[in-house]
Amino acid sequence: VHSVASRSSSSKHLLTRSFGTESVPERKVAVLGAAGGIGQPLALLMKLNPLVSQLALYDIAGTPGVAADVGHVNTRSEVTGYVGEDQLGKALEGSDVVIIPAGVPRKPGMTRDDLFNINAGIVKSLCTAIAKYCPNALVNMISNPVNSTVPIAAEVFKKAGTYDEKKLFGVTTLDVVRAKTFYAGKANAPVAEVNVPVIGGHAGITILPLFSQATPKANLSDETIVALTKRTQDGGTEVVEAKAGKGSATLSMAYAGALFADACLKGLNGVPDVVECSFVQSAVTELPFFASKVKLGKNGVESVLGLGHLSDFEKEGLEKLKPELKASIEKGIQFANKS
Ligand code: NAD
Ligand code: LMR
Repeated sequence: VHSVASRSSSSKHLLTRSFGTESVPERKVAVLGAAGGIGQPLALLMKLNPLVSQLALYDIAGTPGVAADVGHVNTRSEVTGYVGEDQLGKALEGSDVVIIPAGVPRKPGMTRDDLFNINAGIVKSLCTAIAKYCPNALVNMISNPVNSTVPIAAEVFKKAGTYDEKKLFGVTTLDVVRAKTFYAGKANAPVAEVNVPVIGGHAGITILPLFSQATPKANLSDETIVALTKRTQDGGTEVVEAKAGKGSATLSMAYAGALFADACLKGLNGVPDVVECSFVQSAVTELPFFASKVKLGKNGVESVLGLGHLSDFEKEGLEKLKPELKASIEKGIQFANKS
């Protein structure tokens, strides 16, 4: 990551020295919902990231403690805790990346859409503040249902006149993390070398892993591909059931969220060829938002990459997911515009 410095000489934040972490541009990252199950380990992982110079931890309660704790870790960034709505503006001001894991998680038997009634309002108010205090920040939306919260954020930003489709991301990295782990197990491949694109959205069948494009290549049976697809689609539910009422994925999500934020920071810093899957405004299908491979650059999304070649099974999955994804997107848009 330190090599970033030498490649980003045009950055306005670049310090003059060209060695060590000091040559990396200054970057502020804010985590909203930082005292939660995802927020706490995510705060720690972002504290470990040498690309971050300021880390703002915001929640409605508990952040002074999290910030005091994480702040003792001897890494580059300065950590500040912000608590309550009065302090949200200060938490956001000057942020380059805002990560949002604020909101309620699922319990067994619930769908992500069952979280809509509570989380839609939370996301709407947080995005209203982002539009006011850091309209140029890249927004990494983790709060569920991502298929609706990302369109809500877009509508809030449009109303505020700050919307930039290059700067809004639904975080689907956990689907990729899972697909890689499950594929490595079946393909007998070293997991660190595995790549699997995951497209569509982030709920049930809207999650579509493209195992036909997975590398290293493996000769897996159709039956195995079907099972891997289903396990990836149900990965979140697997964790919700195992936690038996104590919430959903937090640790693997914090890892995935930290990976995606790191990719955003690298893109901002001018590192070339940073590509991650994300749920973004898209013209790849007829749906206004869609997850696919995205190239990240100095302004956020540099380009939304196409889907590549799909197997017949994946083509079928793509057609099947569209009505649900479309309805979730429309639900978000309607919510944002009705009040
Ligand atoms: P959690 O309940 O442990 O933590 C949520 C935190 O949000 C709490 O600390 C709470 O105080 C805070 N919060 C609530 N309202 C807030 C507001 N208005 N402003 C700031 N903070 C607020 O939940 P969790 O397990 O951390 O999950 C958080 C969200 O992330 C859930 O919606 C969950 O479904 C989602 N999630 C998404 C993915 C994904 O892949 N995108 C993965 C896992 C979880
Ligand atoms: C996940 O995929 O783990 C998250 O979306 C949380 C959930 O509710 O499954």
